Amino acid sequence: MDDSQAVEVSLSEVDVSRPHAARMYDYYLGGKNHFAADRELADKVLASMPAARIAARENRAFMGRAVRFLAEEAGIRQFLDIGTGLPTTGSVHEIAQAVAPEARVVYVDNDPLVLAHARALLASSPEGKTAYVHADLRDPAAILANAEVREVIDFDQPVALLLVAVLHFLLDEDQPARVVAALLDALPAGSYLVASHGTTEHDPAGTAAGQRAYRRSGVTGRARRSDEFAEIAFSGLDLVPPGVVLVSEWRRISSGPRPTPAEVSVYGGVARKR
Ligand SMILES: C[S@@+](CC[C@H](N)C(=O)[O-])C[C@H]1O[C@@H](n2cnc3c(N)ncnc32)[C@H](O)[C@@H]1O
Repeated sequence: MDDSQAVEVSLSEVDVSRPHAARMYDYYLGGKNHFAADRELADKVLASMPAARIAARENRAFMGRAVRFLAEEAGIRQFLDIGTGLPTTGSVHEIAQAVAPEARVVYVDNDPLVLAHARALLASSPEGKTAYVHADLRDPAAILANAEVREVIDFDQPVALLLVAVLHFLLDEDQPARVVAALLDALPAGSYLVASHGTTEHDPAGTAAGQRAYRRSGVTGRARRSDEFAEIAFSGLDLVPPGVVLVSEWRRISSGPRPTPAEVSVYGGVARKR
């Protein structure tokens, strides 16, 4: 999106002068929903982490495989996707409803630009249902109490909670483990968590420089080691094989060239609540 098109979005809350994670992610994925400030910071991140685009694509593909697994093999029909990102191909409802048209999906994000594009997320199959809620992951109680969430999701039936590439935007003081636990507490046994998280493990210099660039521009976050991520996200849950691995390795189906761990630098996993 060039900045003149920003007017078309016409949402007074959209601050195009500051970079935002959702729009930068869209830029990495080759989308059109980003502004000069987003591109400027994303280019700085790409300068220290040239593989950020590979990481974004691998993460998005992981999400797709995880949702297909849940719909096809685990029989999940309800999805709560927090940290949705800007609509791009392969949104959760498209994947889930291709398997089960009756699947219901609630999207949650705190970026006003995602809200401005929410209509694209609401194109449900007639048999299923989708909703978009503008809310912050750091306030799980508000998400769980939200009327639209409760209208679309039946909390007596298993739910897949998706926290894909969003937990690393929570600082330690945001208590990410508490946030995850509060959300999972509201879900019945047989529910699932899909989560992924950036790490500095495989490219310490590059990812640390990328993280610094984000922070300098006011986008806060913290990459974590795989064991820290696993503890925050999956404590007390049964991990689905292969467990917590680089997103590129989670039930990989592509026969294309395998990215290196340093290029991916994002861990992911899927786990079931007992
Ligand atoms: C990197 S994108 C991930 C998008 C999608 N989940 C995926 O993996 O393809 C991160 C998204 O999380 C959102 N986000 C960041 N912090 C958030 C918060 N505290 N509450 C809700 N959404 C948040 C951003 O606005 C952005 O849309």
